[in-house]
Amino acid sequence: MIQVRQAQIKDSLEIRSIFRDTIIHVNAKDYSEKQIATWASGAEDIEQWEERINTLYFIVAETENNIVGFAYLKNGNYLDGLFVHKDFQRQGIGSKLLRIVESQVMMNDFEVIKSDVSKTALPFFDNKYYDVIKKQKKNYKGLVFENYLVEKPF
Ligand SMILES: CC(C)(COP(=O)(O)OP(=O)(O)OC[C@H]1O[C@@H](n2cnc3c(N)ncnc32)[C@H](O)[C@@H]1OP(=O)(O)O)[C@@H](O)C(=O)NCCC(=O)NCCS
Repeated sequence: MIQVRQAQIKDSLEIRSIFRDTIIHVNAKDYSEKQIATWASGAEDIEQWEERINTLYFIVAETENNIVGFAYLKNGNYLDGLFVHKDFQRQGIGSKLLRIVESQVMMNDFEVIKSDVSKTALPFFDNKYYDVIKKQKKNYKGLVFENYLVEKPF
């Protein structure tokens, strides 16, 4: 049974572990070793994660008291993060989190949800009827990452 609830500060360590481990084990097939190490190092910025949890719409999926995925929104309609635990991929957890996030965006009175998604996640968003607006190169900590700007109108 997967339950979804609002994230709390006490979840920060588990959230950061999922972020790091999912990048290292799941996203690694689509990005270079250097890109993966740099991207995963974002897990170490404790203050930034705590600020996200405190200030953004931030939800976690949980089973038997273990967090197995999370998602958060910026600016009301921008999906800034969606990660599922490496050992719980393809079990519908990402779909469940996305459904709830989309409902929140609709409640915020927006007509569209947007995100910049990894090469790894593109088939998932395609399955959810997101349109690819453009393929792009984004700079993060001095490295260039290829990803896709996607959106879905309601
Ligand atoms: C993208 C992600 C969140 C999807 O979560 P998930 O829980 O595995 O997704 P679901 O089980 O709900 O998948 C729903 C459907 O999307 C499609 N899908 C998901 N992952 C896919 C993949 N790797 N390849 C092809 N189709 C995929 C499938 O149609 C799937 O249905 P099916 O399993 O019945 O075939 C997860 O793979 C992840 O954490 N990826 C790494 C982090 C990431 O890149 N996040 C994106 C933000 S940058």
